[in-house]
Amino acid sequence: MTTSVSIVYKHYLLRWLFVILSFNSARGRRCAALRSPRGRPRAAPGPFASRRYMGAVGSSRVMCDNVPGLVSRQRQLCRRHPEAMLSIGRGVAAWTAECQHQFRQHRWNCNAPERGHRLLGSRESAFVHAISSAGVVFAITRACSQGELKSCSCDPRKKGSAKDSKGLFDWGGCSDNVDYGVRFARAFVDAKERKGKDARALMNLHNNRAGRKRFLKQECKCHGVSGSCTLRTCWLAMADFRKTGDYLWKKYNGAIQVVMNQDGTGFTVANKKFKKPTKNDLVYFESSPDYCIRDRDVGSLGTAGRVCNQSSRGMDSCEVMCCGRGYDTSRVSRMTKCECKFHWCCAVRCQDCLEVVDIHTCKAPKSAGWISRT
Ligand SMILES: *[C@@H]1O[C@H](CO)[C@@H](O)[C@H](O)[C@H]1NC(C)=O
Repeated sequence: MTTSVSIVYKHYLLRWLFVILSFNSARGRRCAALRSPRGRPRAAPGPFASRRYMGAVGSSRVMCDNVPGLVSRQRQLCRRHPEAMLSIGRGVAAWTAECQHQFRQHRWNCNAPERGHRLLGSRESAFVHAISSAGVVFAITRACSQGELKSCSCDPRKKGSAKDSKGLFDWGGCSDNVDYGVRFARAFVDAKERKGKDARALMNLHNNRAGRKRFLKQECKCHGVSGSCTLRTCWLAMADFRKTGDYLWKKYNGAIQVVMNQDGTGFTVANKKFKKPTKNDLVYFESSPDYCIRDRDVGSLGTAGRVCNQSSRGMDSCEVMCCGRGYDTSRVSRMTKCECKFHWCCAVRCQDCLEVVDIHTCKAPKSAGWISRT
């Protein structure tokens, strides 16, 4: 057993937040991205772009050395691809928001105590690894299409003509190069786990991979006489990140508990009655805490102060959310649209109404005994 299991880690998401913070302060300013609307050929990076790139390389050593928590292979990639790191940094907020959206009705809402805690081998940890890995794929792929990276561009294989159920079409515009995104994410995100040989490293590698799922949709534009669509130009675009979030949320709910093999080379399902995990399933080792009370050691913020839903019978109900501790009710007033009437033709006119609503928030544990063992 290596000691790394008991080391206190910074929360995975927070580590990514450090990436952004260190980058923004090291660069001083954020560079203007070379944006091009979806489905149009991207503009080739001009001389300005390459000068900007060289500038970034010059300071990339300083900036990459100041990001806490990177292993040496990640630092290397960081120095070689500083622009990619900026894209990842900008992506952090998006996938943190998606994680919070998926868990909005739950005691654990994708937040963790600021100071480090033992990163558990829990179901939630599995989700965080998967969505972070998916987020890197998304951020890098998008950056490729928008011409922000030197090392990649639109999918070079989507050229010439092809056929689908509607007939022949031409590949055109910019197809998202998700293969590059996946390769980059594998190299960068997994580098962290390749150092370790313990159960947690195996688990993280598995969940990172499960997160690198490709969601692409084909979009087309019609040409020809008055939109007759005799000619079509199509490209492949990544689906909205919400689709990834919804997918991983299902995988989180069906996550499979595993135990390490005797020889430490892999894992098997903990309860033989359940199915074996496939490469697309999320896996975890340890049961989750109940997240009712604040406990840094297990990464729980507790639910004191969280808003609950009095009329719900689900996870967001006051009974479940507040863990039976009860809740406080405060009355707030807010403006809403009301008494909307349809006017012929064609408008809907509403009045502004003052609405008074009760907001319920969970009480803190009685004994002020917020556990803190650090
Ligand atoms: C509270 O729960 C009820 C019943 O599930 C639901 O209809 C309502 O929209 C919820 N309210 C909020 C603010 O989420």
